[in-house]
Amino acid sequence: MDNMINIALPKGRLGEKVYELFRRIGYECPAIHEQNRKLIFENPEKGVRYFWVKPSDVAIYVERGAADIGVAGKDILLEYRPDVYELVDLNMGKCRMAVAARTGFRDDPGRTLRVATKFSRIAQSYYNEKGRDIDIIHLNGSIELAPILGMSDVIVDIVETGTTLLENDLEPIETIVPISARLVANKASYKFKQQQISAIARKMQNMTAEKG
Ligand code: PRP
Repeated sequence: MDNMINIALPKGRLGEKVYELFRRIGYECPAIHEQNRKLIFENPEKGVRYFWVKPSDVAIYVERGAADIGVAGKDILLEYRPDVYELVDLNMGKCRMAVAARTGFRDDPGRTLRVATKFSRIAQSYYNEKGRDIDIIHLNGSIELAPILGMSDVIVDIVETGTTLLENDLEPIETIVPISARLVANKASYKFKQQQISAIARKMQNMTAEKG
């Protein structure tokens, strides 16, 4: 392992905001602003190397040590339970995991509930706790279609503004858990690069702590 800190950033709008945080705590990497399709950027002077990865893959890079640290959504951490340390709640990328259904839907507890979702594990444990019998329909996207087409009774999905639900005549009926972006670390890296990683965690904590 080299002495650089390898950081997996989630591609997209959240990733840009997260990079801005790293920049403000002293890990700038001007090359990242070049308009190209490169996925790796480094600044040897600051001892930092960034990777742009698909948001749902960040935890995989960190778990396997390809990245020392990264920023992943709590939804992904709950769904895949990667073996990483969760260091800081960054209080960004905030949304919630919710159950939604067609407007006016009434649950019939006597029937198995058909649940369409990308988050099968989160859905399963939520309904297990309630002792509710369900049939999971695992989808990879456009989850909102399932209840519209009568393929499922409800969906379990991320709700941010609620616009997607509204525009598809669906409404949130239960909140499962609030979601936000988390700083995560590889377990071995945390041991061997502890000084650097805890300094980053501490600074991030100070920058992003909720006031009040
Ligand atoms: C999520 C989710 C909803 C949407 C909710 O999708 O699956 O479709 O955001 O946001 P809203 O409440 O503000 O409308 P995302 O954009 O993360 O992409 P995905 O379709 O790949 O899941």
